[in-house]
Amino acid sequence: MTASTGDIEKAADVLRGGGLVAVPTETVYGLGGNAEDPAAVARIFQAKGRPADHPLIVHLAGAGQLGDWVAEVPETARVLAERFWPGPLTLVLRRGPRVPLEATGGLETVAVRVPDHPVTLDLLSAFGGGVTAPSANRFGSVSPTTADDVRAELGDAVDFVLDGGPCEVGVESTIVDVTGSAPAILRPGGVTREDLEAQLGRPVAVPSTSSVRVPGQHPSHYAPRARVVLTEPELVAAEAESAQESGLRAGVLLPPGFAAASVKAHAVVAVPESAAAYARGLYGFLRDLDRQGCDLIVASLPAQEGLGLAVANRLRRAAGPRPSSVPDLRDS
Ligand code: TXA
Ligand code: MG
Repeated sequence: MTASTGDIEKAADVLRGGGLVAVPTETVYGLGGNAEDPAAVARIFQAKGRPADHPLIVHLAGAGQLGDWVAEVPETARVLAERFWPGPLTLVLRRGPRVPLEATGGLETVAVRVPDHPVTLDLLSAFGGGVTAPSANRFGSVSPTTADDVRAELGDAVDFVLDGGPCEVGVESTIVDVTGSAPAILRPGGVTREDLEAQLGRPVAVPSTSSVRVPGQHPSHYAPRARVVLTEPELVAAEAESAQESGLRAGVLLPPGFAAASVKAHAVVAVPESAAAYARGLYGFLRDLDRQGCDLIVASLPAQEGLGLAVANRLRRAAGPRPSSVPDLRDS
């Protein structure tokens, strides 16, 4: 059921009182708090089990508010905001005095975006201020794309859940750093590299994760409980079958063009042909395979163009090493 006007008023009150509200966006659900309230920001980190040096995104009602939150708005930022907001684009800019260091993990830059969802835009207008919102999942886990996912992830740690239906884009926003001489994609997401380049009329770099110092770039992220194994498309079925033979329950994200009926696995999801549909479904597929008790999930990377770049990024991160020194918060 979608949030009513009364729900939005109530959510704004919760934010004013220092509480946490789960908010629908076009990308994934966020766990929102008043950006200017360090106690609310601290509660977000606690609810997620997220280390305090991981910066948050400040969500605003419109591009017109940008100047209130950042120290300066470079031309590139202005052009991108005008074209892509509201939408799945986050800009990293120099921090303005309104943003507490608690929200930026101590950085002098701040990530800002205007989400494209009517419920949350109404909430942001009613509230009036900025709302810091990381994805509403436990740290390292799969981002929620429905209100039920949020409840399953966070339970009582969130004071109020605004239901805005399933997320349209399904993967997080594209993060672009516009503080340097050339814009750079820190995280591929809902706005494609091709769209950014067309708008700016110049190439936009996607630095490899190992060369960028972005807080939050742990090897394993966006991860289901099941181990994720990546292989070539034509080897997916064989990999799953051999896992089954060794007594494991194999889940499969079967690439387009392969017949699901012939795959010997515990559970098979036929991946949609279009990258946009894959992005929209990805986190739901991973959650589904977890729910079905898979020990591992075998997948291949889609072509890394358009939204395929973001899908491939999330699959790689989900398959990343899970260091035993890091407590497994995904189950807690
Ligand atoms: O689509 C989205 O962006 C969702 C929805 C809820 O808006 N939010 C989201 O937030 O994905 P979160 O906290 O899960 O991811 C934010 C990412 C983190 O990887 C963080 O490191 C990066 O943004 N980030 C935030 N501030 C930054 C900054 N000042 N410099 C570089 N990276 C930053
Ligand atoms: Mg996240």
